Amino acid sequence: MSLTKEIQKRRTFAIIAHPDAGKTTLTEKLLLFGGAIQTAGAVKSNKIDTATKSDWMEIEKQRGISVATSVMGFEYQGIKINLLDTPGHQDFAEDTYRTLTAVDSVIMVIDCVKGVEIQTEKLMEVCRMRNTPVICFINKLDREGRDPYELLDEVEEKLNIQVRPLSWPIGMGKSFKGVYNLYDKKLNLFSPSQRKLSDAREQFENLDDNRLDEIIGNSYANQLREDVELIEGVYTDFDTKEYLEGKVAPVFFGSAVNNFGVNEMLDTFIRIAPTPKSRQTEDREVKPEESKFSGFIFKIHANMDPNHRNRIAFLRICSGKFQRNKPYNHVRGPKPLRFSNVTQFMAQDREMVDEAFPGDIVGLFDTGNLKIGDTLTEGEDMTFKGIPSFSPEIFKEVINKDAMKTKQLEKGLKQLMEEGVAQYFTYEMGARKVVGTVGQLQFEVIQFRLKNEYNASVEFAPMNLYKACWISSKDKKQLDEFVRSKSRHIAQDKDGKLVFMAESKSWLQMVQDNYPEIDFHFTSEF
Ligand code: G4P
Repeated sequence: MSLTKEIQKRRTFAIIAHPDAGKTTLTEKLLLFGGAIQTAGAVKSNKIDTATKSDWMEIEKQRGISVATSVMGFEYQGIKINLLDTPGHQDFAEDTYRTLTAVDSVIMVIDCVKGVEIQTEKLMEVCRMRNTPVICFINKLDREGRDPYELLDEVEEKLNIQVRPLSWPIGMGKSFKGVYNLYDKKLNLFSPSQRKLSDAREQFENLDDNRLDEIIGNSYANQLREDVELIEGVYTDFDTKEYLEGKVAPVFFGSAVNNFGVNEMLDTFIRIAPTPKSRQTEDREVKPEESKFSGFIFKIHANMDPNHRNRIAFLRICSGKFQRNKPYNHVRGPKPLRFSNVTQFMAQDREMVDEAFPGDIVGLFDTGNLKIGDTLTEGEDMTFKGIPSFSPEIFKEVINKDAMKTKQLEKGLKQLMEEGVAQYFTYEMGARKVVGTVGQLQFEVIQFRLKNEYNASVEFAPMNLYKACWISSKDKKQLDEFVRSKSRHIAQDKDGKLVFMAESKSWLQMVQDNYPEIDFHFTSEF
């Protein structure tokens, strides 16, 4: 098959949601449709089953939460779908942010009872940075939820994106009758069932048809007629181009656990979701059709085997054909790298592959050469952009409990940071080391892994910090002067970039006002 055909065949996306909105359930249903799993419950049980294939980290088994991001590939109607799973726990949000850099679109799940929740807002901000196309699935219609109009308004307001419903619910909760597909003009009647794969649909070109009253009753039929008239009046026609530009999110209503409305959304997804997109490097745009291979590492998984310090680096292929055993330019590193152990992920299985194409994610067996953000190419020296670090929210100072193990500690911290477990800052003065995370849980993960894998004991001392801001200035003299005058608050990140450690919001504001020529950035890429 030609490279262009391979590219046209692929869709790479992630599901984002606030915990408990139904991401795992929806993932499972999508895999069922793709024939990648046979039984309902297969994905769900991974959360608690200690010996599952995706449960690579010991800590994950202990805590029974999905710490890791994994990839699930499946075929549906001749399309190869790569679904990147994201950790459900919000403390691992940074991991999710990075996963979003490797996808071409997202499906956002919203609980109709709770509406737009905080985690969804944050994830959406990351999507907005790259104008990632979004499809919205409003879930749990079998429960008494909020008014659908109100939900749509909330999505528009809180997530700062226009919406366009493509299906519309009839009733809700106990009286939930089903959805009307505004695009295909089909009525899809609700029947609670976890097992059925496709919904029975009735075509209704004209909603004045009396059959509608017979099927759902007169009052629901009239309500639907009113709703549809209103929607068609208020919203402009759905425009795929606007969706692809990240300006409009089509909205579907359904109930993932009942496998209802999922098929509808998946069929639309196949029709409109983007094929692998071009990616920006520091110097130029790389098109997927370019014959030479390029890709970047967005995730590293450690501890595949606790006896050996090996890891799997997840590579997103951006252009050309990736081949096993072929030497590639490791742009940041000293020498070309060749990978003999290359795996792809089909549903929950991993299999060895010889080649992969743009949009694909492969796992590369790595002994410590790679780190997050690294670019691999077939020769050209370039670096993909768009894999930034975000300012952490919790900061703690690293206290070494065993001076004899300083070397192990340093090595352990360095490797954990390369995996993106947390961020690491070293103060210019006094060389104090600070770990910054999005959530409390990472400190426990770090402590546990340092002990378990590197035999180093640490404690974390709380620090009163508000944000780490990357700093720059057009005027180098001014920047030097700022660094000198604020030296007690200046640190370096893991790549040696200068960071201003702000203690409070108001103080940061004051410093920003006092130093207008200094630019303060909340992500490491600016
Ligand atoms: P997450 O991955 O986004 O965290 O959510 P998950 O799929 O685990 O779903 C969270 C809970 O919501 C689960 O219930 C799940 O069964 C339920 N759920 C998902 N979709 C629907 C739906 O359409 N309707 C209703 N009523 N519930 C739904 P749980 O009690 O936590 O687990 P379980 O005991 O049901 O497995």
